[in-house]
Amino acid sequence: MKIESNSNQNTAEFKGFSKETLAKFDEIKNHFPEGKEKSAIIRMLHLAQSEIGWLSTEGMDAVAKILNIQTIEVYEVATFYTMFHVNPVGKYVFEVCRTGPCMLVGSDKIIDYIQEKLNIKVGGTTADGAFTLKTVECLGACGYAPVLQCNYKFHENLTKEKVDELIDAYRSGIIEN
Ligand code: FES
Repeated sequence: MKIESNSNQNTAEFKGFSKETLAKFDEIKNHFPEGKEKSAIIRMLHLAQSEIGWLSTEGMDAVAKILNIQTIEVYEVATFYTMFHVNPVGKYVFEVCRTGPCMLVGSDKIIDYIQEKLNIKVGGTTADGAFTLKTVECLGACGYAPVLQCNYKFHENLTKEKVDELIDAYRSGIIEN
């Protein structure tokens, strides 16, 4: 599927989670003993984010309600981990590692190149809603640096040429979400 408009950025009003997601929330929650359901936060936030595309305040509040905990407890987790998006993002989120080993082999130049190529700054989203650029700490693939993760897929040993190919592949739908 080709990217043609800014409809890729998920800004739709949150109207509650689907029945399927609510059933999965229950299943996850039931893995933990009574009173310890809070331990399900991270898995539930992943699920919430995969359904709504990002973690809106309303979405996080709904998770807090299901877990019977304070909303601030959910916000704390969601804002601590960079894999959670607390603002609307594009269809494809480039999370480029900026930690030492990646930086030593040029991740800063890769970040600059992506900014220039997509005409956005770190944290920004392209006008067509296709791409968001974020920087993150070590992705655990230092041996293949520089590395970026896009929607749970890793892209390693990056060069400017590879970035060009990657963007083209996502735009043309060769790499699926
Ligand atoms: S430092 Fe980049 S993956 Fe570890």
